[in-house]
Order: sequence, then C-alpha cells, then structure tokens
Amino acid sequence: MGKFIIRGGRQLEGDISINGAKNSVLPVLAATVLTDKECVIHNVPEITDVRIMIEILVRLGAKVWIEREPDGSQNIITVKADALKTAAVPESLMSQMRSSIFLMGPLLGRLGVAKISQPGGCSIGPRPINLHLDGLSALGMDCETGATEIVGRAPKLRGNEVRLAFPSVGATENIMMAAVLAEGETTLKNPAREPEIVDLQGFLNAMGANVKGAGTDEIRIEGVTRLHGYEEAVIPDRIEAGTFMAAATMTGGDVTLKKVRPDHLEAVISKLKQVGAAIDISGSTVRVRGPIRPGSFTLVTGAYPGFPTDMQPQMVTLAAVAEGVSTVEEGVFKNRFAHVDDLNRLGADIKLEGSRAVVRGANRLQGGITEARDLRNGAALVLAGLVADGETTVQSTEHIDRGYERLELRLRSLGADVKRAWATNREIPKAQNQ
Ligand code: UD1
Repeated sequence: MGKFIIRGGRQLEGDISINGAKNSVLPVLAATVLTDKECVIHNVPEITDVRIMIEILVRLGAKVWIEREPDGSQNIITVKADALKTAAVPESLMSQMRSSIFLMGPLLGRLGVAKISQPGGCSIGPRPINLHLDGLSALGMDCETGATEIVGRAPKLRGNEVRLAFPSVGATENIMMAAVLAEGETTLKNPAREPEIVDLQGFLNAMGANVKGAGTDEIRIEGVTRLHGYEEAVIPDRIEAGTFMAAATMTGGDVTLKKVRPDHLEAVISKLKQVGAAIDISGSTVRVRGPIRPGSFTLVTGAYPGFPTDMQPQMVTLAAVAEGVSTVEEGVFKNRFAHVDDLNRLGADIKLEGSRAVVRGANRLQGGITEARDLRNGAALVLAGLVADGETTVQSTEHIDRGYERLELRLRSLGADVKRAWATNREIPKAQNQ
C-alpha cells in the first residue's frame, strides 16, 4: 500500500516523452492468443494492468518475454501462444482487471470456448458487459451465465451484422478480435471510433487479418483461416499526455511533450487553449505553457472524438483552481465523481447535480490527506497536490500504478516535489460520495 506525498506550488517545466497507450496494449496483448506465432509488441508501458494481462496469458499457457527497449524507455513484450492449455481466465485475475473481458473474443476465435468470471462493479460506476455478450452471440456464441462464471462456446464463429446500441470501446474490440477468425464477413455498425480501435485494426491486419473501417462508423471484417506473428509498436497514450498537459496548464508551467499524437488529443488541446494555455504543436511534439490562472469552462465527456471521460477527473481539478464557475458533465460513466469529496476536502467548491459537477474555482487549495479510489481519480488528486498549499498525501497509489508508469518520477523530472512512501498507518478519510 503506497502513498504519494506532494508539496505543491511548483511550476512544471521541461521535456517528457509519452509512453505507449495502456488502452491499446491491453487488447493487443489479448489478441496475441489468436495465433500460435510470435508477436512482438514495442512501446509497452510498465504498469500494473499490463502485468496482470501478462499473468493471465501465462496462466492460459502462453510464453511471454519482457525486455527493455535499448534506449531504456519502454518495454518490449514478446508473446508466443503456441500451446494454450486452458480457456479459463482465473477469477482472481479477472477481478483485478475488468479488461480481461477482452480475452473472450480471441479465446472463442482460437479455441472455440472462453470461460471468464462476472466482472464486478467498480468505483467509476456499473460497467455491464451486455454489448460484448450480445455481439459475440450474434457471431454464433452460446453463452451460459452463472452467478460467478460466464462460459461462451462457439465451435465455429460466423460473420454477421452487429449494431452496437452504444459505441462501447471494449465491445468493439472484443467483437473485432472474435470476427477475424470467423467464417465470412462481419459488419460492425456504430462501433467505438477511439484511436485505440484504429491501433487494434493495425495489429490485427499485421497478423494477416482483413479489417477495414476502424475510426469510422462501420467496421468490416472478412474472416481468415490463420493468423501469423508480427513486430509492431503501440500508439502513444493520449490520456497520459492529457494528464501532463493539464498539469502544465494548472501550474502555469512550460512543458514539452514528445512522442505524442496531437491528432488524438484535439478535444483536450482545444479545451486547454480555451482556459488560457498556449499550445504549440510541431509534428509529434506539443509544448504547453500555462496561464497565470486558468479560466472557467464547460465540458461534456463523450465517445471519441468527444472529450475523453478518462480526462474528466483531471479537468475537475483544473476547474477547482480556475477563475469563475465551470461545469463538467459526465456523459459516459454517469457516477464517475469519486474525486469530488477529496477535492472538496482540499478546499475546492464542487457541487454534484446528477452527472454534472458545478465547480466554483478557489484561489488556492490546501494540502491534506486524500485517497485514490480509481486510476484517473487518483491522477486528479495528484494534480490537486501539485497546486495545493503545503503537503498533500494521496493514498492507495496502486490504483494510479495501474495506468501510469512511475508517475512520481516523471513529475519529479518536470520539477514537481512528489515522493512515494509506503503507507504504514493508513489515515483514510471516509468517502461520502460512493
Ligand atoms: C474503455 C477504456 C476506459 C475508458 C472507456 C470509455 C480500456 C481498457 N478502457 O473502457 O479507459 O474510460 O473505454 O472511453 O480501453 N456499456 C454497456 N454495456 C457494455 C459495455 C459498455 O452498457 O457491454 C456502457 C458502459 O457502462 C459505459 C459506456 O458503455 O457507460 C462506455 O463503456 P466502454 O466504452 O465499453 O468502456 P470500456 O471498454 O469498459
């Protein structure tokens, strides 16, 4: 159980290279079970969710090698799933990471059977899997759902037309991965259009699949009989980049992000410009200079190319120190506001009205003890610590480590005063907003 101890008040300055995208690498790792050949993935961040996915692959019978890139920056993961010995994702690992649902489509495609457990609720609200199951059933899966286990069987998947009621990222990926080895053509209507979907299409096609249309409102997949290995790199993490951009803006800093895809960050860049940040883009480099104090704003999160829900908590922190009244509406996960109580405890003035936060900007926040309850909510509390007076503690760093590689070291490299400590006596304030 770790905690971050942050002394606020420093402007962030310097250069930082953005890591590979967590939300790309997780489905890409799941897709490696579609082939018995070697898959080499570059630009993999060292984060807990990747470790859990690797552990699941090993438990399924895959061989996995982890090396560091020669420049020391990121990991290279090699997976060879030539001798899978089970189609059952262990319950203990499934409960640690919801994204293990991604294995259902690839396991069905490869083995004709997949056993997973019911994913529980999580702190960002209910996360059903009906769209995953309905989509896979449309491709011929028979599904038995028990109290704890879900077993899907499909001796042969067949292409079909699938229309998603909501453009779910995970369901889109799961159906794409199942369809690549199905017989005939699958048309996926109203799919998610996130950059990670386009990245997954690239990986699947590098394996010999025939997938077209990712990033548009229709994906077409012509099934093939076999897939082969590849060596490819995942795209940069737009949420890690957005988090550093928000940090630079809030601290009045001057940070240059390298290895970024600015085209994946248009909604975030335009919002940060609106609050007063000066943003210069040159190729894969983005320089962010924060204003003396950010201005107020309104935003609504939505499916891509809308404003990413994974940046909502960080933007609520930004609003908490902006000049004037901001409103932040959550359009994807309606209850994703676990950070509000902690931010109010640090002196923010945030009122929740259903799925909307009304934030009256405070001149200063005061340091205090907070607790991360999920990944992005934890990042929002770290950002609050960077601008709060005195010392802020963010407990339960394990949530933050799920998706940020060594966040404290990376912020320190930009001049922040952040230390990691092992929490012995936990001083956890009661959550009033669960
Ligand atoms: C992915 C991302 C997560 C991001 C989210 C939305 C990964 C590993 N995680 O999560 O970081 O916050 O996209 O951009 O890529 N829904 C259903 N039924 C389903 C599936 C989803 O009703 O079967 C609903 C969800 O409750 C939610 C909305 O659809 O309201 C979006 O969820 P989805 O896009 O599926 O998110 P994830 O894939 O879980």
